[in-house]
Amino acid sequence: MPAVIDPFYAMEINRLAHRLKAEGRSVIHMEYGQPSTGAPAAAIAVAHRVLDTDSMGYWESPELQAGLARHYRRSYGFDIDPGRFVLTCGASPALVLALAANFTAGDRVALARPGYVAYRNVLKALHLVPIEIACGAETRYQLAAAHLEALDPAPKGAIVASPANPTGTIIEAAELEKIAGICRDRGIAVISDEIYHGLSYVEPAQSMLRFAPGAFVIGSFSKYFSMVGWRLGWLLAPADRADRARAFAGNMFLTAPSLSQHAGLMALDAHDELEAHVRVYRRNRDLLLQALPRLGLDRIAPPDGAFYVYVDVRHLTDDSLAFCKTLLVETGVATAPGIDFDPVDGRHHIRLSFAVSTAETEDAIARLERWFAARSR
Ligand SMILES: Cc1ncc(COP(=O)(O)O)c(C=O)c1O
Repeated sequence: MPAVIDPFYAMEINRLAHRLKAEGRSVIHMEYGQPSTGAPAAAIAVAHRVLDTDSMGYWESPELQAGLARHYRRSYGFDIDPGRFVLTCGASPALVLALAANFTAGDRVALARPGYVAYRNVLKALHLVPIEIACGAETRYQLAAAHLEALDPAPKGAIVASPANPTGTIIEAAELEKIAGICRDRGIAVISDEIYHGLSYVEPAQSMLRFAPGAFVIGSFSKYFSMVGWRLGWLLAPADRADRARAFAGNMFLTAPSLSQHAGLMALDAHDELEAHVRVYRRNRDLLLQALPRLGLDRIAPPDGAFYVYVDVRHLTDDSLAFCKTLLVETGVATAPGIDFDPVDGRHHIRLSFAVSTAETEDAIARLERWFAARSR
């Protein structure tokens, strides 16, 4: 039977936001997890040049694979064979590759709830069985080793995401190590989604590879590198599995866009520009963490990284989609409903993305303050 795939409700909010904008309303987009900045200047400059000079055929750039190996040496001190990087059209197909490389229909795969909507939906589309584990404040809304230890029978796999979407929480190194140990002992394959690496406001997130060298790691140019629409990412596969994953990638989508691969190589060295974005996110995060509790929104998952705050609004609603729509219509602030990330308790949560400018963050806070003040009169 074909899998039933749930919609992405934030898209409904985004459509409403664009309708309001077309009617002349001012909207602040905090519903999608995407930087409002463009690609780094050096990436754009090389793209202009390549457009004029390159025929842009199917291609997997050896220079970009070598660049990613350098990036991992610089960021984590790992020495990785560039051939282990399978270049993809963003993290999304890398997730499909990782799941297809590890599991067969009917396999059970554990993941945290709340979590990124595509995990559950792609698992279902591949006829795999999501084992969603309710994760609350006691584990920082994250999968923990104890969860994986308690599952009986052991799942075939686990998806770990740190920093996570929608919460931004990071799994500490000691816990990652424990997770890796349990997975090794129980024969659980680890898929580690590290798409938000580079965006940390506490200690930098550790790569799962440090503790589980056989893990499949997913990365992307969409978030830290501010290149969402360029559709470029990678799967970092174990040495003996990379070629099979690459063959599967070739059959699914041939190669990543060649223009983006040229540009991505330049982005890897655009530290000053990218770190300036992180400073803006940090400032926005601080402003929100100061303002939201004043509005009675004080149950917030610790936003260690990424660019989200995931807020418990159960005292205001038990229908987060309807709440997000009302908030958007009455304030112009677009947010994502928790049901995208948690089909059970998500009706009590909303997610705000602070990957916007600081002026927009301040404006959003002012609008929320006025809205809450009017409600309490
Ligand atoms: C946790 C997580 N993984 C993967 C993705 C997919 O990103 P992309 O395909 O743009 O690289 C996203 C997008 O928001 C995400 O939040």
